Amino acid sequence: MKRRRQIYEGKAKILYEGPEPGTVIQYFKDDTTAFDATKKATLDGKGVLNNRISEYLMSQLNAIGVPTHFVRRLNMREQLVKEVEIIPLEVVVRNIAAGSLAKRLGIDEGTPLPRSIIEYFYKNDKLHDPWVSEEHITAFGWAAPQDLDDMVNLSIRINDFLSGLFMGVGIKLVDFKLEFGRLWENDYMRIVLADEISPDSCRLWDAQSNEKMDKDRFRRDLGGVVEAYSEVAKRLGIMPESVQGEVKGPVLVR
Ligand code: TMP
Ligand code: ASP
Repeated sequence: MKRRRQIYEGKAKILYEGPEPGTVIQYFKDDTTAFDATKKATLDGKGVLNNRISEYLMSQLNAIGVPTHFVRRLNMREQLVKEVEIIPLEVVVRNIAAGSLAKRLGIDEGTPLPRSIIEYFYKNDKLHDPWVSEEHITAFGWAAPQDLDDMVNLSIRINDFLSGLFMGVGIKLVDFKLEFGRLWENDYMRIVLADEISPDSCRLWDAQSNEKMDKDRFRRDLGGVVEAYSEVAKRLGIMPESVQGEVKGPVLVR
């Protein structure tokens, strides 16, 4: 018998109905995928680390007044979040050229950008999350101009704050992906940060060596994925002893 109702299962997380109306439980799986799930693996302990790292970053953002869906962590793999209507966009903020931007525009990976750049991708697996402009977003009604404005302003604040936070622990925030949702409180709606912020959704490079400490280790077969995520947690000062016990080494690649 199921303990509670599953609302949605994604590639790295499961959403369950929360304990009270307007809440959802976000469960972090060890599963990891890349390239539209054509590449898959289960990385022991990854979900625990991402739950913890995302809890920490979302709490810090809540504390400076950035509205997020995060309420509290419930256990090693689950957190309680507010139910929001997800806006079908991935908002990517970039500080240093890497990944798809480097490839698309022929810029060497690692080139600092003249200023932070925000890009939007339409969340649609069948279409492989295509790159879209503000024109597409407002014309097709994925977000209203005011919503988009809010998302941009929040993204810039989040980038400034997180860049400093990571630099303080010897990590460069190269780029990251955010998702936003509409939070309804009676008849009033506001845009809040949703989903997760973790090494799955960021590019994080060691400030000294430029060594990758994020999901590119999996995408590019560099190995040591969970070890790198643990190092991020450790530097943030949030590495619980019990996580070290859960991180068991070899990686099963299907
Ligand atoms: P990109 O360079 O591949 O466009 O990725 C930009 C950032 O977005 C990078 O930090 C990784 C993150 N990202 C996701 O979180 N999910 C995705 O599906 C992709 C493609 C990237
Ligand atoms: N999670 C995405 C997928 O499986 C891709 C990525 O993060 O690279 O398609």
